[in-house]
Amino acid sequence: MKIGIVGLGYVGLPLAVAFAEAGHEVSGLDLDPAKVEALNAGRSYIEDVPDSVLAPLGERLRASADYADLAPCEALIVCVPTPLTSSREPDLTYLLEAAASLSEILRAGQLVVLESTTYPGTTRERLTPILEECGLALGADFHVAFSPERIDPGRTDYTIRTTPKLVGGMTPACTERARELYALVCDEVVVVSTPEAAELSKLLENVFRSVNIAFVNELAQLCDRLGIDVWEVIDAAATKPFGFMRFDPGPGMGGHCLPVDPFYLAFRAREQNFYPEFIELAGKVNQAQPAFCVERIERTLNQASMPVKGSKVLVLGAGYKAGSGDTRESPALVILRLLAALEADVSYHDPFVPELPELGLASVALEGALAGTDLAAIVTAHPGIDYAGVVASAARTIDFRGVTRGIDADNLERL
Ligand SMILES: NC(=O)c1ccc[n+]([C@@H]2O[C@H](COP(=O)([O-])OP(=O)(O)OC[C@H]3O[C@@H](n4cnc5c(N)ncnc54)[C@H](O)[C@@H]3O)[C@@H](O)[C@H]2O)c1
Repeated sequence: MKIGIVGLGYVGLPLAVAFAEAGHEVSGLDLDPAKVEALNAGRSYIEDVPDSVLAPLGERLRASADYADLAPCEALIVCVPTPLTSSREPDLTYLLEAAASLSEILRAGQLVVLESTTYPGTTRERLTPILEECGLALGADFHVAFSPERIDPGRTDYTIRTTPKLVGGMTPACTERARELYALVCDEVVVVSTPEAAELSKLLENVFRSVNIAFVNELAQLCDRLGIDVWEVIDAAATKPFGFMRFDPGPGMGGHCLPVDPFYLAFRAREQNFYPEFIELAGKVNQAQPAFCVERIERTLNQASMPVKGSKVLVLGAGYKAGSGDTRESPALVILRLLAALEADVSYHDPFVPELPELGLASVALEGALAGTDLAAIVTAHPGIDYAGVVASAARTIDFRGVTRGIDADNLERL
């Protein structure tokens, strides 16, 4: 098949590669000329897609910034960003622009699938009317479906092939075409009755995580008051073989999904005069977590009779999750900003994030930095770092990820 992928980011590029690896001809479309140029030169910009994966694909994966190049495609999959506005409401600008561009090139026989995470009703009420402006009849001339992306960057035990794929079309014919499309690259395709059911399923998956992370973050704050080790409590509870699912506390939530998606559902709920308490509360608790971490840093320095102002604080990990250089909504950035506002002498080390221009910082070498630091804060626990060595070299260490469990030292504290 000839398949077009609109938006070649964390979601679109791995999907494009999956179809090309399965022998299909993929036209990738992105408005960012640097991405288009990199891909056509065989260079990847996503950690999960090494250059060595692109090389054998050759002409089966080509990138372009011109929507006209998508005209020959039988299926068009949209993977553009769906962020929040500054007032934390859904920002569908990218999606609506992509839809308008697609409506100009849409032709009979094409299937359009939206993969971007969004609130229930987007495919029917926002995407489809724009596509219909091309004059073709939905369900007869062209087809539309929603299929949420379930990618978890960095994960290798579940892939696009082995993760069941949900599809919900605007009509039964739309659903069937989407099912056939994803059966090319996924072992299991799960059909739901409407795009709304598929849209809401994705939000349920992410809100479920957000609520549970908020709950353990709150438990960590309570354990701090009670003087109980939260990690020991969670390890103990996790020995129950049924009825308990482990979630770990941390410095807060990051990435494009968990801090953002619940607000999409809350927005839709408010439109119905419904106020979803769990979603809002989880967002509130998780957003407050970086400030709690900074308070712990202040307290640790205070115990050593040191003010935050002027103290050398080294933040380990700037990406939002281990093994990733993605800094979107990363709690590490909030912690760095809060520390800088308190006039701490802040620096960071992250092998995946060479610089943070918005903060005027560049990653420092770990060895040199540790010796002179007053406090090392483990915010994102990237693999390959010797955390026992960090504790041994830094004057004091505070661990917000639980990676120093098993190390007992007077100069070490944990969330
Ligand atoms: N990153 C994840 O782990 C993940 C997981 C599941 C779902 N999602 C969802 O998938 C969607 C995409 O996320 P992402 O992480 O891949 O974003 P991304 O920012 O990495 O990639 C999106 C790409 O779309 C391009 N783009 C923007 N507007 C465009 C337009 N009008 N036409 C063509 N290209 C355009 C951007 O240049 C960018 O390269 C979002 O809705 C996100 O919530 C992301």
